[in-house]
Amino acid sequence: MSGGATTLPRCSGVIRRGGPGDLAQVAVIQAASPEAAQWNVAGYLQYAFRVSVRGIQVAGFLVSRTLAEGETELLNLAVAPQFRRQGVARKLVESLLAESPGVVYLEVRESNRAARKFYNHMGFQEVSSRPGYYQAPPEAAIVMKFHSC
Ligand SMILES: CC(C)(COP(=O)(O)OP(=O)(O)OC[C@H]1O[C@@H](n2cnc3c(N)ncnc32)[C@H](O)[C@@H]1OP(=O)(O)O)[C@@H](O)C(=O)NCCC(=O)NCCS
Repeated sequence: MSGGATTLPRCSGVIRRGGPGDLAQVAVIQAASPEAAQWNVAGYLQYAFRVSVRGIQVAGFLVSRTLAEGETELLNLAVAPQFRRQGVARKLVESLLAESPGVVYLEVRESNRAARKFYNHMGFQEVSSRPGYYQAPPEAAIVMKFHSC
């Protein structure tokens, strides 16, 4: 992804590459989002790591990795509860899709209706189910994919 910040319309924030100075706020957002993967946030620095910021406040983050040429996996996404339904995740995913030619995959907990609706809204399609994919609690993953040009 490019390193430069992009000013976005409305109040959905600015998307930029995440860095070490964002990790504390990202950890707080992740802890407030039990539906998201609960990984060690320091590990995000080795992936494509995007944050949405408003001033000095991080509103949300997205982590992804390239699997192969033309194949990207969205690893984690969360928006701080106070910034939800304001287009923050939409702008983060649009930024990912704009820089990910080919196919973008993700897995989401079957019970995570809000995220499944969000991804459907963004044009992802549900392609398969992986029973027992998640632990604590055990649950199936729904695999979703987006085809870009
Ligand atoms: C899912 C999540 C990332 C969405 O973030 P967001 O910034 O609130 O989403 P947006 O404002 O960009 O939503 C865009 C559209 O997606 C849909 N959408 C988003 N959240 C939704 C919800 N809770 N219920 C139904 N539809 C929803 C709506 O169509 C929405 O447009 P609208 O607000 O004009 O109706 C956020 O709820 C979140 O952080 N959840 C916890 C973590 C999580 O589940 N991560 C996914 C792990 S795979």
